Amino acid sequence: MGLKHYFFGDEDERAQYIFNLIAPVYSLIDKGSEVEFQKMAAIFNDHFPLAGKNILDVGCGTGSWIRALGNFKPDKMVGTDFSLKMLQQAQKKHPEIEFIHQSGENLSAFQDNSFDIVTTSFVLHGMKTPKRTKVLAEMKRIAREQVVIHDFYTNHHWIIRILEFLERSDYIHFKQHFTEELEQQFVNTQVIPADNGNALYVGIK
Ligand SMILES: C[S@@+](CC[C@H](N)C(=O)[O-])C[C@H]1O[C@@H](n2cnc3c(N)ncnc32)[C@H](O)[C@@H]1O
Repeated sequence: MGLKHYFFGDEDERAQYIFNLIAPVYSLIDKGSEVEFQKMAAIFNDHFPLAGKNILDVGCGTGSWIRALGNFKPDKMVGTDFSLKMLQQAQKKHPEIEFIHQSGENLSAFQDNSFDIVTTSFVLHGMKTPKRTKVLAEMKRIAREQVVIHDFYTNHHWIIRILEFLERSDYIHFKQHFTEELEQQFVNTQVIPADNGNALYVGIK
């Protein structure tokens, strides 16, 4: 996958190109977000205790989010991503976690209701509503109890806005409309904002 995919490819090609490209240095971003991820994982565990649960992380990247959730003693953790390079880094960093190559829109490796919790972290704001709706539907199909989305909620630093612009993500629209999108797929929803401008958006089955 080359530079032409960034400029002329579809959403998936562009995202795969970018994440394959930055995978070797993604651990720098991981380092910066480690403390925040641990804080958010603790908030997650306060609302939905993780001990003994099976958790699937969609768009797991290098595995930082699922690793942070692992502090709360889940029974089983699996991460998936469509970037092979991100998964290679994840496998190297977290050999104790199982990682599987899958696209979020077609998680055919997993059966209906096969995980207690299906989660995703900083993935859904990157795609436009039609794709996001498909990924959310796949997550809902696989989850027995909750779907938990860790993502942007309020305003952020200008550096983040520039990065999101370069990624050509759906950052602004996501923050304005994601709660409604979630409500279209789940009767029961909950939004748990944190003081860092991010939130856990929860769809309850
Ligand atoms: C910003 S990174 C976040 C990684 C990790 N979840 C975290 O919070 O550290 C976004 C990740 O989502 C993956 N991704 C984006 N769109 C995807 C899709 N449609 N299917 C699977 N993975 C996807 C990318 O490859 C990348 O690893």
